[in-house]
Amino acid sequence: MHFSPNWELIAAVFSVQLLFALAAGALLRRRLKRLEMSMARETAQIEALLALEKMMQLAQPLPPSRGWSASPDLLRELAEATLRRRPQSVLECGAGISTIVLARALQRNGKGHLYSLEHDARFAEQSRQRLAEYGLSDWASIIHAPLVPASVGSRQHRWYDASKLPAGNFDLMVIDGPPTTQGQLSRYPAGPILFGRLNVGALVFLDDARRADEQKVAGLWQREFPEFQQRYVKLDKGLLVLDKMGAK
Ligand SMILES: C[S@@+](CC[C@H](N)C(=O)[O-])C[C@H]1O[C@@H](n2cnc3c(N)ncnc32)[C@H](O)[C@@H]1O
Repeated sequence: MHFSPNWELIAAVFSVQLLFALAAGALLRRRLKRLEMSMARETAQIEALLALEKMMQLAQPLPPSRGWSASPDLLRELAEATLRRRPQSVLECGAGISTIVLARALQRNGKGHLYSLEHDARFAEQSRQRLAEYGLSDWASIIHAPLVPASVGSRQHRWYDASKLPAGNFDLMVIDGPPTTQGQLSRYPAGPILFGRLNVGALVFLDDARRADEQKVAGLWQREFPEFQQRYVKLDKGLLVLDKMGAK
């Protein structure tokens, strides 16, 4: 019996296999590219952390800083700005590792005080304990300020109870709370409630500026506070820096 190969079928099977191989190759290349990008991002964070640890000269390393906390590249920016500008009074929204970094920079300056608003009593206490562990309690006050209704213009928000803050103006402000789990534009009220208490020349740092919600906040602030010059810094989570230029 004579066997004649079905060339059409063989060609079809070969074509399908080739297509699968090409698709798998493309997928693999994409995944490899993503992996390379993520390794480059993580390397940048390790480098930032090494630079930060050197700047801080602490007796013990900083606590782990991925996830909820500010990323090492932002912490380095905060440390550099505090060491360079030597602020007298610093305000923070959302306590954590940034609190340790800011307080330590003030201690190294030998002047200034940090006021850190924290809505969650548990995290407020944890941050106080951390400050004590690092010998920084004299340089920072953790203010437990629960979120209260705040109506700003036509909008309803929940924001820190600002009545808990002492009187006086600030030279540097770090906004890393309340968390977005508290609702949309959760960080917007910082502008209408506290930008008036910043000295001319003050800097404001808004973390997570890569997120759509913070970009909306930036747009609102740009319209409502023209005396602040805005600049975006391409960090891990995105950073918006506002520079208070002068009166409206
Ligand atoms: C973005 S975090 C602030 C992080 C802080 N600036 C830092 O550098 O660590 C905003 C809020 O999340 C809450 N938070 C902090 N750590 C948390 C954790 N591990 N899990 C859940 N919420 C946390 C705290 O109430 C904090 O004010």
